[in-house]
Amino acid sequence: MVKVLMVCLGNICRSPLAEGILQSKLPSDTFFVDSAGTGDWHVGQQPDKRSIATAKNRGLDISCQKARQFRISDFEEFDHIYVMDASNYSNVVKLAPNEDAKAKVRLMMDVLYPGEGIDVPDPYFGGDEGFDRVYDMLDEACTLVAENLKKEHL
Ligand code: 4NP
Repeated sequence: MVKVLMVCLGNICRSPLAEGILQSKLPSDTFFVDSAGTGDWHVGQQPDKRSIATAKNRGLDISCQKARQFRISDFEEFDHIYVMDASNYSNVVKLAPNEDAKAKVRLMMDVLYPGEGIDVPDPYFGGDEGFDRVYDMLDEACTLVAENLKKEHL
């Protein structure tokens, strides 16, 4: 099994969408996709209702997901760790026990725009349109991630 983890701050807005989107593009017999937050405020909660609605509009059901906090054992458990923004990157990399662990962590939009340091913006405090924008960014990035993973592992 190839394991991919999507990480944001709260694990209720961006990374649940990233989890659902990437999962929908990969066969589940070979690829396991999960998500987590660097913070613990929303542990055990469903994704934000705006993320659930945005995903539903695009034909994805993410309502069964439950937020959890990123843990150090995720570095061993997962092959690839995608973070949504620069702040997530520094929070996750700070916890990396060694260089191999650190090398698993990549900024999500770096897949499409290597080295440009583009964040998937946090839509939590904004309006509904922010969630559509996040969905579009993640959909484009996840298409490429899925293509690359399938080339490498299938
Ligand atoms: P996320 O968005 O990191 O995309 O899940 C956020 C959700 C909650 C909070 C911040 C960002 N919060 O401060 O509670």
